Amino acid sequence: MDLEVELQAAADDDQTQESLVLTHPDGRTERFRLHEYSRVYAVPGLYEEVVQRRLQCASPRRLADLLVTCAADAGVESAELSVFDLGAGNGVVGEELRARGVATLLASDNVAAARDAALRDRPGLYAEYLVGDTDDLPQVADLIGAHRLNGLVAAGALGLGHISAGSFHRLWSAFAGEAWFAVSVHEELAEPGASDFGDYLAEFAQRGDWGDIVVRERFRHRLTMAGAPIHYLAIVARKGPAAAPER
Ligand SMILES: C[S@@+](CC[C@H](N)C(=O)[O-])C[C@H]1O[C@@H](n2cnc3c(N)ncnc32)[C@H](O)[C@@H]1O
Repeated sequence: MDLEVELQAAADDDQTQESLVLTHPDGRTERFRLHEYSRVYAVPGLYEEVVQRRLQCASPRRLADLLVTCAADAGVESAELSVFDLGAGNGVVGEELRARGVATLLASDNVAAARDAALRDRPGLYAEYLVGDTDDLPQVADLIGAHRLNGLVAAGALGLGHISAGSFHRLWSAFAGEAWFAVSVHEELAEPGASDFGDYLAEFAQRGDWGDIVVRERFRHRLTMAGAPIHYLAIVARKGPAAAPER
């Protein structure tokens, strides 16, 4: 579907304040902040047109590639990966993983419109799609066991008012045995002292018993609406077969 959309850069290029104007076929216009996810997901194709096509968001593809490649390096084929897509939005990441052969996908997002959009636009992609922060979803631990989940992805969903490091860590701790996570984090948030994620990543690397970071790679996550590159870090970590869930 062709959508008539005008992008409006934020005054100081703050990515949380970027907005867009959608012109409907009857000439009506509607203004959205990009981070007003409920409203954006409610319009079929709008997120894909703006974030994927115009702003060239690379996180879903990059993380899917890295997760599948890192697992393959350890002898685990993509068909053996069962992945939880955290902050899944309308399913762009899940679609990339499925295209690489990942058979089992579960998802969560704290916005109900994200699940509605995923079911509307990508029916059958996710075996389960939960709504809420995983800290408030006690059933997740059982689902990890029931579906033998061994992968966790979070593309563009950490920090910046999204998922906290504490919530992410509690979810990662519920993965037992051999498992990988692949996440993308704004490079400015990834340094110690810069954010809860910066501190978390530093502690993660230092401790060793939460897993090993196997990839830490800077990449262009997307463009701002003014056309400037936004760089994120793609981070992949692995924990070994002997790991038990933390209590
Ligand atoms: C930038 S979008 C990325 C969506 C998807 N991962 C992608 O790459 O297309 C960030 C998503 O994180 C979700 N989110 C924010 N806070 C969350 C939380 N505490 N728990 C789950 N999802 C959250 C938002 O609703 C939004 O759908």
